[in-house]
Amino acid sequence: MPKNSKNKNNKSIYILGIESSCDDTAAAVLKDGKIISNKVANQAVHEQYGGVVPELASRAHQQNIVPVVDAALKAAEIKKSDLSAIAFTEGPGLLGSLLVGASFAKSMSLALDIPLIGVHHMKAHILAHFIEDNEMHLPEFPFLALTISGGHTQIVQVNNHFDFKVLGETLDDAVGEAFDKSAKIMGLPYPGGPLIDKYAQNGNPKAFKFTKPKVSGLNFSFSGLKTAILYFLQKQTKENPDFIKENLADLSASIQYTIVQILMDKLKLAVTQTGINRIAIAGGVSANSGIRTALQQAQKDLGWKVYIPKFEYTTDNAAMIAIVGYLKYLDGQFSGYNIVPKARMPLRT
Ligand code: KG4
Ligand code: ZN
Repeated sequence: MPKNSKNKNNKSIYILGIESSCDDTAAAVLKDGKIISNKVANQAVHEQYGGVVPELASRAHQQNIVPVVDAALKAAEIKKSDLSAIAFTEGPGLLGSLLVGASFAKSMSLALDIPLIGVHHMKAHILAHFIEDNEMHLPEFPFLALTISGGHTQIVQVNNHFDFKVLGETLDDAVGEAFDKSAKIMGLPYPGGPLIDKYAQNGNPKAFKFTKPKVSGLNFSFSGLKTAILYFLQKQTKENPDFIKENLADLSASIQYTIVQILMDKLKLAVTQTGINRIAIAGGVSANSGIRTALQQAQKDLGWKVYIPKFEYTTDNAAMIAIVGYLKYLDGQFSGYNIVPKARMPLRT
């Protein structure tokens, strides 16, 4: 954490973070980098459609944003006028969803006459490790970040708070999609990732073998796995219509095991190639117990230093937006009112 962590006049810095890139409306307040409130409103409306419906998401953000920001300020026990700056998710994400957070942040920043700070959603997932929270340990630079979410799968070398180098990424589906699509094939509701994790607890990870994709270097591919699972289950259910029901735990454990092996193989290669063995995981899938256990094992067996975020900082949240806001505030990186949200936004920007 930079040393000059307060204002010149030694007043505390309060950053409000707003996140609205997908289907969660979130607001959080940090005081000098420490978390003092973190609120999320989830949108149950998408469950029945088996995935996020963009138009419904932006409508729900419009309904949720005022109460969520209000709840975050109340929980932080501060007034709007105490805020030093407002950080919001600039992208990547669903455009309609991003627009709600961006417009709200802009008007609040204008009304309060305080700086506006646009934040990259995936950088925020990585920099969530710098939120000061009693149970978190701050990573040392440089480190490797494995970003695993519903939209991304990347191995990123992080040289400092603002210097990111993508070493490898998925060529097709993200790892979260691999979980969610496999779950859908098994008839589980959206998002199926956490359900596979839950059922895997009672299953045998070696019960079924799914071949791992052959992708060179540090890139990933997950679409083949989904197809392999689909064909395997089509064949099995022809013979036994109850196959999935009878084998749900073993199937979940085997799918999770395969995905975790794919991630771990690439991480090991990245460690060998870079000589960096400090690993931080980020993004929704870092809540997965299989990847957490595998990394803890690598810490023991291979001497890696592993950083695993607290559960509330893994899935989409606004504390991660606020910490990037805080770091940019200290560095004087502010946004103009002409800033527009972006559906696509490479990590390099
Ligand atoms: O980062 P995130 O909240 O949203 C995106 O920016 O994508 O990630 C959501 C993804 C979903 O695909 C969800 O199924 C997955 O994270 N996920 C999990 C678990 N918890 C969330 N996947 C596997 N195991 C979990 N425990
Ligand atoms: Zn995310």
